[in-house]
Order: sequence, then structure tokens, then C-alpha cells
Amino acid sequence: MANILLTGGTGYIGAHTAVFLIESGHTPILLDNFCNSSPKVAQRIEQITGVLPKVIEMDVLDTTALTEVLKTEHIEAIIHFAALKAVGESVEKPLAYYQNNVTGTLSVLDAMQRAGVHHIVLSSSATVYGEKGVPPMREDAPLSATNPYGQTKVMMEQIIRDVAVAQKDLRYAMLRYFNPVGAHPSGLIGEHPRGIPNNLMPYIQQVAVGLRERLSVFGNDYPTADGTGERDYIHVMDLARGHVLAVARLLAGNDSFTVNLGTGQPVTVLQMIHAFEQASGQTIAHTIAPRRAGDVASVYADPNLAKQLLNFTTEYSVNDMCRDAWVWQSRNPNGYEDA
Ligand code: NAD
Ligand code: WQD
Repeated sequence: MANILLTGGTGYIGAHTAVFLIESGHTPILLDNFCNSSPKVAQRIEQITGVLPKVIEMDVLDTTALTEVLKTEHIEAIIHFAALKAVGESVEKPLAYYQNNVTGTLSVLDAMQRAGVHHIVLSSSATVYGEKGVPPMREDAPLSATNPYGQTKVMMEQIIRDVAVAQKDLRYAMLRYFNPVGAHPSGLIGEHPRGIPNNLMPYIQQVAVGLRERLSVFGNDYPTADGTGERDYIHVMDLARGHVLAVARLLAGNDSFTVNLGTGQPVTVLQMIHAFEQASGQTIAHTIAPRRAGDVASVYADPNLAKQLLNFTTEYSVNDMCRDAWVWQSRNPNGYEDA
């Protein structure tokens, strides 16, 4: 049982992972600057688990303060979630993305070296497979990026690999998430992006509760079952459980590894809309719009390596994803603001 620092720990995936870590007997410590989250999430985690996790307000760029935290909290592993993640914004503000995501990762690795922490799990992304990959995506596919956000993830991975060559005792797990959706089935924690959602599922959720009028379906002339783009949506509960397996594998003394976390099952935009309508009983008004720049027809994981290394397979269906997203969104139409 370990003390584990979650950078970006009050964010969407961090909060769900904290729940699983607590339920597995670990002690997660959530470090965040709240640029895209709320400290109120800690009370919600307590409501779910009975344990109020420690939250530290800090920027990962503050290497000196971060080093102190690693020492004083006796941290054995870091799960590095903290990053900016909006693709469109990264095109507008590349410096902010490289600074936060790449320099942030350098800072985390520097602090780990200074404090003698040897295990890191990185939030990577299917975005590192770029636009030329042919699904199902395998971990040994060449990496590339089509936007500054994706580029930061390629760079974050490369930096960690390079540092691990030099520091023989460093062990890493790169987790390449596909499309995380859904919420804790309690409806107490979930995702509430600031401003207009970039991603499909939060947009659908906001149409369902009346925050947005209608969804634009970006393209219906792709070579897929119904012409709309297909992706590998993974329930955040499955994703969070994957982190516990990954950190346990590292702490057990195994070698570094890189795995996809996805279901391996592609789902189109229209299929997702229909599943959400079924689960919520709401009608999702939508219009076919032109393709979105940078989108590809189909992205889904080859989930076999995660099965082999972590014995990880997903348990939640698309209907579960929609049901839990709806419970969260309908009970918290403004996210944590009303908490
Ligand atoms: P999120 O925005 O909800 O969580 C990220 C957290 O990091 C936020 O709480 C934010 O306040 C914090 N943060 C950002 N910069 C920080 C800094 N400099 N110092 C301290 N805290 C900082 O996003 P999420 O969906 O939970 O994503 C977590 C990680 O997973 C990110 O690295 C993201 O790139 C990656 N990822 C997300 C998705 C997705 O679709 N959600 C897909 C693939 C990968
Ligand atoms: C899914 C499908 C859209 C919105 C992005 C990032 C990726 C990763 C996950 C972090 C596509 C369609 C969407 C809308 C739509 N994030 N869509 N109308 O593009 O697969 O991945 O999030 O690492 O890096 O690029 O996810 O949810 O934006 O889109 O029709 O309003 O939904 O065209 O086919 P994507 P998404």
C-alpha cells in the first residue's frame, strides 16, 4: 500500500483514479493548481469512499515545492495527469501548452530525481498515433501529432523514455487513453468542461440538460457504418481501474511499459447519440455539419497488450457510459459550482 501523488488529481480522470486507489488501500495525494478543476471534488470523493483525500494547491512547474511534497509525503509513485488538453486551444496558444505540459513533465522528473522517487505513470493519449495510423492502433506504431497538444504528449513520452535510459532505477508506465467518457455511477464526480465543450460526450450531455441547443455532427461521409466518425469510448471507471493495475505493476518491481487503455470497439457519433437518448430518455437535437479539421474517420485501440501485461479488460458498456454520464450531468448541470 503506497502513498501516490496525483498531479492534476482533482481533474476528471484524476478524481476517479483517486477513488479506485483509496478503495484498493492506497493513499492518493491530489496536487492541482485548479486551472481546470475544483477543490470541492475532495468532499465528493469522501462521500463515495469515506476517506477525505489530502489536496495540495500547487503548480507542477514549481519544482522546489514539488520536491518538498515528494519528500514530506513519502511518495512512492506519481501519476502525472496535470496537463492542458484542449486540441483547438493548443493551436491558438501553443506556448501555453508546451510550457505547461512539456516543462511541467521536466519539472516532475527533476523533482522525482531530487527526492528519490522512481515510479511514474503518465497520462498519454491515442493522439500520439497521429492521423496516418491504421486501426486497431498497436503500441509499436510510429508516433506523430497533428496539433500542439498532441505534440506535447509525443514529447512528454519521449522525455520520460530518454530520462529512463540515463536513470537506471526509473520505471515508467505510459497509458495511452482512447476517449474517456462517463462518470462515477453515484453521480457525485464527473466531467464538466469550462466553456463550450470540444469533445462529443460532454457536448451531448450539455444538450441533454438544455445548456446547449443542438449538437453539430462533424461529417457524415466517412467510410464508416453510418458515415460518421468512429472512436473507442472508454468508461472513466474502467480507465481509473487501469491506473491502479499499472501502478501496482510498477511497484511490484516490473519493467517499464506502454499500453493502450481502450475497449477495442469503435462506436460512431450517431450510435453514441442514440445510446445516450436511450439511456437518458432525452432527445439530442443534432444537425449534420462539415467535417472538423484534423479529424480522421476511425480510431480504436488494439487492447491486447493491456490484457497481457495488466490483465486489463473493460467492464462497462456504451449504455453504462451514457447512463452514468446522464446521472452526473442531470444532478450537476453546472458541475461542482453548486456543490
Ligand atoms: P482535466 O483538465 O480534468 O484534469 C487535468 C488537471 O490538471 C486539472 O485538474 C488541472 O487543473 C490540472 N493542471 C493542469 N496544469 C497544471 C499545472 N501546471 N499544475 C497543477 N495542476 C495542473 O483533464 P483530464 O481529462 O482528467 O485529463 C487528465 C490527463 O489525461 C491529461 O494529461 C490529459 O492530457 C490526458 N488525457 C485526457 C483525455 C481526455 O479525453 N479526457 C484523453 C487522453 C489523455
Ligand atoms: C469524437 C467524435 C468528432 C464533437 C479528442 C482529442 C484526443 C483525446 C480525446 C486527449 C469525432 C465527433 C465531436 C462534436 C462531433 N484527448 N464530434 N461533434 O477528436 O477523437 O479526440 O479527445 O488526449 O487527443 O483529439 O474526440 O470527442 O472531440 O470527437 O461530431 O461537437 O465526435 O468529429 O468523430 P477525438 P472528440
